[in-house]
Amino acid sequence: MTISTQKDWQQRSLAAVWHPCTQMARAAMVPPLAIARGAGPWLYDFDGARYFDANSSWWVNLFGHADAGLNDAIKQQLDTLPHVMLAGCTHAPAVRLAERLSARTGGALGHVFFGSDGASAVEIALKQSFHSWRNLGRGDKREFVCLKNGYHGETIGALAVTDVAVFRDAYDPLLMRAHIVMSPDSRLANEAAALTAMRDLLAERSATIAAVIVEPLVQGAAGMVMYSAGYLRALRKLCTEFEVHLIVDEIAMGCGRTGSFFAWEQTFIEDLASAGPPQAGDAPSGGSACTRERGGQQLWPDFILLSKGITGGTLPLSLVLTTEAVFQAFWSEDVTRGFLHSHSYTGNALACAAANAVLDRFDAGQLERNAAQARLLAESFAPLAVHPRVAHLRQLGMVLAFDVQDAGLRFAERFHLAARAHQLLIRPIGNTVYLMPPYVVDAEIASFLARAVNLTLDEVLAQPMNKGIAAEDDAHVA
Ligand SMILES: Cc1ncc(COP(=O)(O)O)c(C=O)c1O
Repeated sequence: MTISTQKDWQQRSLAAVWHPCTQMARAAMVPPLAIARGAGPWLYDFDGARYFDANSSWWVNLFGHADAGLNDAIKQQLDTLPHVMLAGCTHAPAVRLAERLSARTGGALGHVFFGSDGASAVEIALKQSFHSWRNLGRGDKREFVCLKNGYHGETIGALAVTDVAVFRDAYDPLLMRAHIVMSPDSRLANEAAALTAMRDLLAERSATIAAVIVEPLVQGAAGMVMYSAGYLRALRKLCTEFEVHLIVDEIAMGCGRTGSFFAWEQTFIEDLASAGPPQAGDAPSGGSACTRERGGQQLWPDFILLSKGITGGTLPLSLVLTTEAVFQAFWSEDVTRGFLHSHSYTGNALACAAANAVLDRFDAGQLERNAAQARLLAESFAPLAVHPRVAHLRQLGMVLAFDVQDAGLRFAERFHLAARAHQLLIRPIGNTVYLMPPYVVDAEIASFLARAVNLTLDEVLAQPMNKGIAAEDDAHVA
């Protein structure tokens, strides 16, 4: 019998697996960690070393790995009905999930279309927006607006509304043209200017614009760039004024990550707009705060997209929630006016069962638990604010980030590798170090994380700069 080791799996992987978001020539020098198993927030390699999954495995894992409750829900569904196509058939987990998500919008977004990965939800929303305008006799509305440095996925349509050069540039000749508008960034205090830029564009071109797409409150792949709910509220009003759909991509920031189930719900909190830019310790107080409505009126976007955390990191699933108005635009005797879009695994029953189990946690007080965990993180990381090389320590709910000044070349990769020795799996974006941990933080974990990040930072900053490496090689993402 051969015993497979860490090295064996790494070599076999490099020979057979084409890794995502990876320059494979570089991977040969920095081999992927071969993970044997996961338990809670910990991942174990084949040599038995463990690592805290500080970015929740690309922001999907909400409650830790191999969570017994989610696993039970999936196992039960597996023995009942793993999958059935959702055209011409339906099934209880999909219906329940759609009803429950719709209820979380108070019925404002009462129609749910199912996809698989996040990018497929983006494709669906772009198509639904354009096609609904077309069905209403406004087929000229076929352009989309996105924010500078925004990220919405890697398929051709999603990439067209993504403004991250390292992902986009090679495919630029293939992409439809989108309008890229100044993004709000609390570090720059530029929200008024960003709204003016948006207003100017919409005023000039709304006759040909179908929708604006944004990541709410935090632009993740841009480097956890945060901005206020006030911007979103004003954007909603602009989109209404100029008859343009608003697509809110909660693929990364939904499912309780920012403090409310939908990040959008923070537009209902009266005092957030005047609170100024978010800082460490500013974690919103969870669901209860969202019950305080502003002027009694809750304005929702035209589309909300969910994926990643909705199945707690178990199975791929994405959802597009939309309004009665958009849904009605497709309602017709004419088949071609319908939304004839599908993926084979649309509304997969196992994934829906996992998502329902995730919603059960939120029904049972997850937002309150997250608020307490966010406070623990804030307390543990507060001393970093005075580190001489740290700038803009910031936090929103269970997202904590800071920028490193004069970080040097290949900082992200060097930080990632050094952190492994401190039992931490973390992947900075450029010179921004961030944590988006599973929702399992207690006082011990919070101080472990702060200590591991501090030690890693000081080690990496003490390394001699590697002057021979091109700066663009530093694009080590998420
Ligand atoms: C905001 C946002 N939208 C869309 C996507 C694409 O999701 P997926 O990678 O599942 O296609 C991501 C992925 O990181 C994301 O952060």
